[in-house]
Amino acid sequence: MEKTRILVTGGTGYIGSHTVVELINAGYEPIIIDNLSNSNIDVLEGIKAITGVAPIFENIDCKDYTSLDRFFEKYPDIKAIINFAASKAVGESVEKPLLYYRNNLLSLINLVELMRKYKIDNFVFSSSCTVYGQADELPVTENTPIKPATSPYGSTKQMSETILSDSVNAYPNMKCILLRYFNPIGAHPSAEIGELPNGIPNNLLPYVTQTAAGIRERLRVFGNDYDTPDGSCIRDYINVVDLAKAHVNAVQRLVEQKNKKSIEIFNLGTGRGVSVLEIIRTFEKATGVNVPYEIAPRRDGDITQVWADSSLANTELGWKAETSLEETLLSAWNWEMRLKEKREAASK
Ligand code: UFG
Repeated sequence: MEKTRILVTGGTGYIGSHTVVELINAGYEPIIIDNLSNSNIDVLEGIKAITGVAPIFENIDCKDYTSLDRFFEKYPDIKAIINFAASKAVGESVEKPLLYYRNNLLSLINLVELMRKYKIDNFVFSSSCTVYGQADELPVTENTPIKPATSPYGSTKQMSETILSDSVNAYPNMKCILLRYFNPIGAHPSAEIGELPNGIPNNLLPYVTQTAAGIRERLRVFGNDYDTPDGSCIRDYINVVDLAKAHVNAVQRLVEQKNKKSIEIFNLGTGRGVSVLEIIRTFEKATGVNVPYEIAPRRDGDITQVWADSSLANTELGWKAETSLEETLLSAWNWEMRLKEKREAASK
């Protein structure tokens, strides 16, 4: 039987590559588009090592309408699009807002226009809990009010959600699922794929693993005077493979027309808030490796705490975060060790 083809934009990126693996495991045929602006072509080998399948890959920038148009002409039988292709560094977005609006919004508009042209009905979008800002009540549900964005990156996520909601209203066949991720961490348990931060990491976990590996001298814990039990910020850290699986469920729901509304929103988190200091302690316990750290001033723009109510995803998507924090942190460490092996092999 022919496999159902799913376009994954940004499919060589961190969450994209893990989703490609889970789509293959579930019997779909993912096709990857990526311009490799924040990922590496070697990721394709990692995907093949895990699944035995080398997915179709096209080096295309989703901002380039003409190339995208040609792509859809070449692959007319795509049933759904999962859109990961976007820039995602909060700090960079403050310095280069136009880059973020151009990358994140133009790509989305091109994709939706071409969905209409090529009669593709189903769209899954990577959104973020950043849209909630510092919520007044925790945990946040999908009905928690959206707060004004605190960065151009956050604005692009909010605007993208609006663009999709307006499009679904206007175009009767279009169906969309918005997935609001909390903090994705970890790597595939095989250590064949994982996060590949460029330069000095902004996010906590790559900074923790690089410090444990001796690449960075000391982790800075941004603030220990927040109104939380240990004074450090609290987030909902979600395993990247668990997160990837939610995309498979979302695609299935759309392709099998089990969606209840033409646009649906799901929070994807564990439901558990974990502080920065707890992450360090749990990492050390899970791996037996020490993480040198110091307390540093608060980081601009950080919210104090957020965690998800994902019960809607549990009941409607049939999805639940399953991997323990210990296992997830260990997977991040194993990936860091694999990167070290690769660096050493390359320098020989
Ligand atoms: N942190 C440190 N030291 C570091 C890096 C981070 O203490 O070196 C702390 C931060 O202050 C924060 C927590 O670790 O309290 C998590 O920080 P991350 O940068 O890993 O994640 P954020 O919660 O700031 O941001 C993430 C994603 C965004 C997304 C946002 C939604 O990176 O894309 O969640 O809240 F928008």
